[in-house]
Amino acid sequence: MEIIITNKNSTSSHRFIFAFYKKEKKQNILDKSSLDNRIISSIAKIKAYKDFFKSPQQTVQLTVEKNLFTVIGVGESDKFTPETLRKEVAKIVKSSLQKYEEISIDLLNLKGSSEKDFLLAAIEASHLSAYSFEKYKGKKTTRKLKQIILLSSVKNGQHYAKQIHNITESIYFARDIINDVPNVLTSEMLAKEIVSNAKKIKSIKCKVLDKNAIKKEKMGLFLAVNQGSMHQPRLVHLTYTPKKSNKNTPHLILVGKGLTFDTGGYSLKNSMINMKTDMAGAATVYAAFRSAALLNADIKISCILGITDNSISSKAITPDSVVIARNKKSVEIANTDAEGRLVLADCLDYAKDLKPTAIIDCATLTGAVVAALGTEICGMMSNSDKFSEMLLNSASNCNEYLWRLPLIDEHRDDIKSNIADIRNLANTSNAGSMKAAAFLEHFIDPKTPWIHLDIAGVADSQGHLPYCPSKGASGVMVRSLVNLIMNAKWQNLA
Ligand code: BES
Ligand code: ZN
Ligand code: ZN
Repeated sequence: MEIIITNKNSTSSHRFIFAFYKKEKKQNILDKSSLDNRIISSIAKIKAYKDFFKSPQQTVQLTVEKNLFTVIGVGESDKFTPETLRKEVAKIVKSSLQKYEEISIDLLNLKGSSEKDFLLAAIEASHLSAYSFEKYKGKKTTRKLKQIILLSSVKNGQHYAKQIHNITESIYFARDIINDVPNVLTSEMLAKEIVSNAKKIKSIKCKVLDKNAIKKEKMGLFLAVNQGSMHQPRLVHLTYTPKKSNKNTPHLILVGKGLTFDTGGYSLKNSMINMKTDMAGAATVYAAFRSAALLNADIKISCILGITDNSISSKAITPDSVVIARNKKSVEIANTDAEGRLVLADCLDYAKDLKPTAIIDCATLTGAVVAALGTEICGMMSNSDKFSEMLLNSASNCNEYLWRLPLIDEHRDDIKSNIADIRNLANTSNAGSMKAAAFLEHFIDPKTPWIHLDIAGVADSQGHLPYCPSKGASGVMVRSLVNLIMNAKWQNLA
């Protein structure tokens, strides 16, 4: 599907226009300054005229001089934000996919300082809402829509469309691998798929550690999770280096949990349906990394993905085991279902050796984050106020919900073990997301700014966001991470 940015309408296309209201003397009246006179006089003639003013979200379809228009009431103009537009555009695109070959969406009346932000949001929504996963469907849905014209007077519109496409295409890739199934996308296959995708980008170097190499690295925790599996673990290590770089170039490391399926192991899950999405952390950081490489980010970025499944067999690790981590700490495996933190722990320690400026890990780590924040808000834990502020700011710019949860000594105490240095399950069963972060903190250099993102709630089924599929992978947090990478003042962190 092609997206065209222009300020001239094509007469063949069905045009969508946003109409605003003005509140005057307790009455809602149409803000005429936002509409074309021909449309205003046509609206005035139709029956729905009165209703159209009554409540926002009213839609009126008109034919003016043989051209088809849909006018969408969107409330007061000062409450109309890029996020409102993102949602409106998504609804238009979704409802047009099977109906029209070409549509145009009129952004010309969205003036002001955020004109460019409106355009960027519309481009994002145009792509993101057209996604569907039909790999395993015998009969694919047929689509008519070939072209979306975004009417805008922003200069360099086509350039922005290209830039955004790098991100939305990466989100498509993330959604595809999250939605794919565990019997096809095994650990070996997932690593292969990511590496073959990354190899297409010249500025990225790829390295894959197989089981032997992971053994050589003494990643005891990672290997313990993989122990019951018929598939080999993989550590995918990708590096992006900008064209102009020297030893002072900031270096960000992204670490992702890549569990192709989480049965819980011997601490078997009651319900494991949808646990194919337990590699969403890896998919999210890879998509952000890929986008940043295509956008020629000016910092160095490494992407480290810990990939395995968590299965049961006679070889699988049992609860009560004690395992030595890569950083030599002993860990009591109190629950084999708290496996994500084990894989991440060794990957974070591997990342530490690369002496990064900052680390972000991303994982579908705990069900507890859903209890704390619901399915709409991503949880964040960090050892740095400055770094947290930077990502909160990016998330707010991208209209993605992010909330910081604390790390406190009482939680740190709660993961102490009687038999080993630490245990992978806290002694008391509340505040699970924060205690998981307290566990990860053992594998972080305290001097390195670090953020842990728990995306267990937001990784899929974001039905409240029209630009995400209502079921399946969302790709939420990729845009925020890309915004951080591209816009943050990294020198301030060092
Ligand atoms: N992969 C799960 C977390 C999860 C839950 C992801 C729901 C997506 C949706 C993780 O490995 C897990 O099982 N966590 C346990 C931890 C517990 C045993 C301390 C959990 O949250 O119940
Ligand atoms: Zn688990
Ligand atoms: Zn898991």
